[in-house]
Amino acid sequence: MTEHFTVERANAYIAAPTEALDTTFKPEKHFSAPIGWINDPNGFVYFRGEYHLFYQFYPYDSVWGPMHWGHAKSKDLVNWEHLPVALAPDQEYDKDGCFSGSAIVKDDTLWLMYTGHNVDPDGSVRQIQNMAYSTDGVTFTKIKENPVATGDILPEELVAADFRDPKLFEKDGRYYAVVAAKHKDNVGTIVLLGSDDLVDWSFESIFLKGEADQGFMWECPDYFSLGGQDVLVFSPMGYPKAGNDFANLNSSVAVLGTVDWETKTFKLESVQEIDHGHDFYAPQSLEDGQGRRIMIGWEHTWGRTVIPHELRHGWAGSMTLPRQLTIVNGRVKQTVLSESIAELPKVALGDVVESAAYLELSLEASRHFRIGSAEDFVTFGYDADREEVYIDRSKLAYQLVGEEKWETTRRAVTVKATRLQVVIDKNSLEIFVNGGQESLTSVVYLTQERYLEELK
Ligand code: FRU
Repeated sequence: MTEHFTVERANAYIAAPTEALDTTFKPEKHFSAPIGWINDPNGFVYFRGEYHLFYQFYPYDSVWGPMHWGHAKSKDLVNWEHLPVALAPDQEYDKDGCFSGSAIVKDDTLWLMYTGHNVDPDGSVRQIQNMAYSTDGVTFTKIKENPVATGDILPEELVAADFRDPKLFEKDGRYYAVVAAKHKDNVGTIVLLGSDDLVDWSFESIFLKGEADQGFMWECPDYFSLGGQDVLVFSPMGYPKAGNDFANLNSSVAVLGTVDWETKTFKLESVQEIDHGHDFYAPQSLEDGQGRRIMIGWEHTWGRTVIPHELRHGWAGSMTLPRQLTIVNGRVKQTVLSESIAELPKVALGDVVESAAYLELSLEASRHFRIGSAEDFVTFGYDADREEVYIDRSKLAYQLVGEEKWETTRRAVTVKATRLQVVIDKNSLEIFVNGGQESLTSVVYLTQERYLEELK
């Protein structure tokens, strides 16, 4: 018999969990759930003057399981208030998980669109799109019309079993969702669905079809316009490694281009890997009350050792710091928010880093740093000869092993760097190069004293 999940049961479990929580590595300044497993950010939205963040959530264990939507809100993107679980897989059409999706505000009501994941008795998978709404921003009602879009509306050339992660947006009074769909040619595809009322949805177009060398499935698409440019963000599985780029099996990319709204197709002009660390996946963005485009990602990736789970700490997963996106010289730049930095204690070389901390470094030539103890440390820095900023996890006591067939202990980005902003938390290292021209995000679990020093 399948287990029966409900929002009430999840909330009761969070209030009185049976597994003890060990917060040794729980981040202080990065978002994490009260307990349990999290992956993708979902439904990131600005509603009634507050930021709402939902997330893929399995409260009952520190591993992925039947997905719920956890929920939190914030007035400042720094301090988060946990709210009751928003969605549980409690319907026939989402019985094996409420997968990723997004939010939009219509007539002061908060709407969610998400994927119902269903595994039929013969093992075949159906992924279908559903809607839920809330008038108080806390309690959500799944609509009686669900599912609002199934694989039946897709053209023959797409694989209906891989049809997920709708991201809502509005344009000229009509609602749209970009949705990931796998193509029978074994390439990633983003489809566009359209609706006038958020309830009655139809297929509009194949928005963008990938090439053979761009991965086989594009998860979690996000579309927005920024600085007069059309931008697509998505997370390709299996994007081929190219030098320092795409060295994780699962990457996240920002694509600049132009949408032809007659044919409803996206013309791709350039692709960039969003983050060059070990752990950045499935980002999602919102536009806030100040008109800022802010993105947050999952600070982990698939197929790697999950240290807090191995250690039975009762939780796993966190989000990156939110980053403001702008376009500079034809590339997406990610600036760490000044409000995040203001909250972080400043540390200097030679300090023992006790808590979450911020460090700023200027570079005129190569500089190499390490944090940790003699037997357990991470190195990072700038190699001016190779024009590379890097994070090297090869000397960590807790090694993070991946599914990649190549070495992944060191990740780097090719860039001429003059300034590094480094955010250290209890489970991670986040580096912003030249004010956000490039970024590297990696989880790092240090077991001993965290001594910060420059290597000569
Ligand atoms: C991306 C993803 C999504 C899916 C969700 C399931 O990390 O695989 O495509 O909706 O996670 O938890």
